[in-house]
Amino acid sequence: MDKKVTVVGAGNVGATAAQRLCEKELCDVVLIDIIEGVPQGKALDLTEAAPIEKHDAKVTGTNGYEASAGSDIIIITAGIPRKPGMSRDDLVSTNAGIMKGVVQQVATLSPEAVLIIVSNPLDAMCHVAYETSGFPKNRILGMAGVLDSARFRAFISMELDVSVENTHAFVLGGHGDTMVPLPRYSTVAGIPITELLSKDRIDALVERTANGGAEIVSLLKTGSAYYAPASAAVEMAESILKDKKKILPCAAYLEGEYGINGLFIGVPVKLGRTGIEEVIQIKLTDEEEAALNKSANAVQELVDSMKHLA
Ligand SMILES: NC(=O)c1ccc[n+]([C@@H]2O[C@H](COP(=O)([O-])OP(=O)(O)OC[C@H]3O[C@@H](n4cnc5c(N)ncnc54)[C@H](O)[C@@H]3O)[C@@H](O)[C@H]2O)c1
Repeated sequence: MDKKVTVVGAGNVGATAAQRLCEKELCDVVLIDIIEGVPQGKALDLTEAAPIEKHDAKVTGTNGYEASAGSDIIIITAGIPRKPGMSRDDLVSTNAGIMKGVVQQVATLSPEAVLIIVSNPLDAMCHVAYETSGFPKNRILGMAGVLDSARFRAFISMELDVSVENTHAFVLGGHGDTMVPLPRYSTVAGIPITELLSKDRIDALVERTANGGAEIVSLLKTGSAYYAPASAAVEMAESILKDKKKILPCAAYLEGEYGINGLFIGVPVKLGRTGIEEVIQIKLTDEEEAALNKSANAVQELVDSMKHLA
């Protein structure tokens, strides 16, 4: 393959993302983890699946960073996931330290890479990556909106008994309890769901979406969701690797857009070869704007709380 993607963290999300990347034959994959043997074992296992899955992507598992040099994209999933009863924000002190250490390594060896951050609390971890890497803002983005929108789409399709392929949804804001699903911009075959479903049903789907991560954590008991999160990170990577210029909701560093300054928050962006090529500004109602501001305030509080960790 002429593209290389490094996935840091060979746990549930990281290993699944590696699998999807190579099975879609998008790139060679380097899988890195601190646990000895785990990235090597999973990489070998994926390599042995290749003849059956019919792909020629090379998968390398390692505990060091040398093999990651010159990566086009680095997907960072290293860190601890939440347990039942925990919020994503409870992970901040542990994962901020891990994120800093990982970014220092990858930024030196892949100075032109786009970083896709997955570890939680997502928006705060994007800040750590931005500050540690010194990369321009277009090359740091967080995965949350694509996942939250996919959850909303899945619930819309279940509710109306229609193909998921006919659904589109937009979820903006921080990746937490204050996320902002936008029913007005969520459609089935181009028809806004506000014309297809009652307000009560939409409210119920919105609430299930906002609690989508917690619903899976409470079912799994140990660990959090990983199939859909991995798919979401890989959709973002694909748009960058193929320069597809897809419009996807991602955590992006805003400098005035949507009236928000100096903060990573989920907004629609155009993703191409250089990362974020444009922040798309859509018109929000007063209510939607207030919800986005509330979400931004929650992210700001968490970012401020990290100052005590330094
Ligand atoms: N943004 C999202 O929407 C989203 C969705 C799902 C999960 N997540 C987050 O992604 C992270 C990973 O989730 P998971 O389910 O894969 O967890 P996991 O425990 O299965 O995997 C995490 C891996 O990171 C590794 N790790 C820890 N410190 C490391 C370091 N310094 N260097 C390299 N590897 C290191 C661990 O050894 C482990 O294998 C969690 O923080 C989780 O909350 C985010």
